[in-house]
Amino acid sequence: MKELKQGFSDNFLWGGATAANQIEGAYLEGGKGLSTSDFAAYKDPYAQGKVNNFKFDVSSAELNKYKENPDAFDFPKRRGIDFYHRYEEDIALFAEMGFKVFRLSISWARIFPTGLEDKPNEEGLAFYDKVFDECAKYGIEPLVTMSHYEMPITLTEKYNGWMSRELVPLFEKYARAILERYKNKVKYWITFNEMNMNLNSLYTGAGILEDLVDHKLQAAYQASHHQFVASALTVKAAKEIIPDVQIGCMINQIEAYAKTTKPEDQLQAVKSIQLNMFYPDVQARGEYPTYMVKYFADNQIKLDIKEQDEQILKEGTVDFVAISYYMSHVAEAREDAAELAGTFDSPIKNEHLELSQWDWPIDPMGLRISLIKLYDRYQKPLFVCENGLGARDTLTQDGKIHDDYRIDYLKKHIEQMKEAVKEGVDLMGYTPWGCIDLISCGTSQMTKRYGLIYVDQDDLGNGTLNRYRKDSFFWYKNVIASNGEDL
Ligand code: BG6
Repeated sequence: MKELKQGFSDNFLWGGATAANQIEGAYLEGGKGLSTSDFAAYKDPYAQGKVNNFKFDVSSAELNKYKENPDAFDFPKRRGIDFYHRYEEDIALFAEMGFKVFRLSISWARIFPTGLEDKPNEEGLAFYDKVFDECAKYGIEPLVTMSHYEMPITLTEKYNGWMSRELVPLFEKYARAILERYKNKVKYWITFNEMNMNLNSLYTGAGILEDLVDHKLQAAYQASHHQFVASALTVKAAKEIIPDVQIGCMINQIEAYAKTTKPEDQLQAVKSIQLNMFYPDVQARGEYPTYMVKYFADNQIKLDIKEQDEQILKEGTVDFVAISYYMSHVAEAREDAAELAGTFDSPIKNEHLELSQWDWPIDPMGLRISLIKLYDRYQKPLFVCENGLGARDTLTQDGKIHDDYRIDYLKKHIEQMKEAVKEGVDLMGYTPWGCIDLISCGTSQMTKRYGLIYVDQDDLGNGTLNRYRKDSFFWYKNVIASNGEDL
C-alpha cells in the first residue's frame, strides 16, 4: 500500500492563472489578428438585471454590427490589463509571491492571425519567448493553455468555428508550431480551457455563432468532438516533440449534490456529474463512455465521427486532469432537469451555501469532494488550475486593499485541497484564478476582481493601470513559503 502524504508534496506547483484575452491587450500589435474575444462587447450586467451571467455569446447580426461600426462599442478584452507591455513588472510580482508556476494562455491569433497562414507570425512567437524567458529568470514554470476561449475570428466567419472539421488540422498546425518553438521552455501544457463550457456558450468555447445552428446541443457536442480529436492529435505531437512533457485536459468542475435523499434526485445528480465528467472520460480514458450513447439518442444528437477518430482518441490520452473549481450545484428530478444537467447557471439554490457578490455559491468542501471523485475515477494526477473569488475591492488612499474576504475564500479551499491530499489524492498544483485583476470572462467587467494584485482600471478602461499588492498578496506569499502549512 502507498504511504499517505501529510501535506502538499515538496514539488507542489503553487502559482496563479490567467488567459491571454483577459490580460494582454495590444489586440492589434505584433501582427496579431482579430480573435473571437475581441468581439465581446461590454454590456452593463446590472442594466441587464443579472450579475451572475457567465456566458457571452455573439450572434451573426451582432458580429456584423461590431465589424461595421467598432467605435460605437466598447470591447474591454481588446485592452486587457496591458500585460503585453507590462509582463516584466507582473512576473516580478508573481516571483515576489514565490510562484513556482504561472498559468497563461497563448493567443492563437498572435501566432496565426487568421488561422489560415502556412507560416507562424514571428513577432507573436517572439512575444511569448520573452514572457517565458522572464519566467525562467525567477525559476517559474509556465503552464500554457493552448486555447483559452478565443480563436482567430476568421475561423468563425469562414467555418463557424469548431462546427467544422477543418479546424482540426488548423489547430494541429498551431499546436505543433508552439510546441516546436517552446519545447525547451515549456513543459506543462493544457490543450483546451474548460471544454465542457461548450454546453454553456457556443461562441466562447467553440467560436460558433449560435443563430447559424439549428440544434444547439448537437452543435456543442459536434464541436467538442472536433476538439477532442484536435486535442488527442496535439497530445501525440507533444509527446514526440517534448520527451518529458506533461500535458493535460481541463474542465470546469461543477460538483452536483442531490437535493434530497429521494432516489430520483440522487439519479439526477449522477447524470449531472456524468455530463461534466464526460470530457475527461474521453480525454483521460481515450474513448466515449457508453452513457453518452444513450444520452445522444435521447437528445436526437448524431455526431459525425470519422473512422480513424477512435484510434486517435485512444492514442492521445492526457497525463493529468486539470480543473477549474468555483462552485457546486444542486440536482433535482424536475421537468427541466435534463436541460440543467452539466450547465453552469442553475436556478436551484443550496440553502447551506453562501453566495459571492455575483451569486456564485461558495463551497470549499465541494472542491475536496470533486478531487476525491476525480482521482477515484482517473487515477491520474490532478491540477486545480483555477479557483477564486470575484469580488469588488476598494483601493484605500494609501494604496492598500484589505481583501480579507478573498483570503478567507482561498484559505478554506486550500484547507480542503490539503485534506484531499491527506486522503490520497495526487495533486500537482494550484493556480488561483486571476492572480492579477483582469477582465472578467463572462461579464467583461473589471470590477469583478479575482486578483492578489490590484490593477487600477475601471470597467470602462479609465485608470492608471498601476499595480498594487493586496492583503491577499502577502498572505499567499506566506502560504507558498510554508508550502501550504501556514494558512
Ligand atoms: C473560468 C474561465 O471558467 O472562469 C476564466 O476559464 C474566467 O476565463 C473564470 O475568467 C471566471 O469567470 P468570470 O466570468 O468571473 O471572469
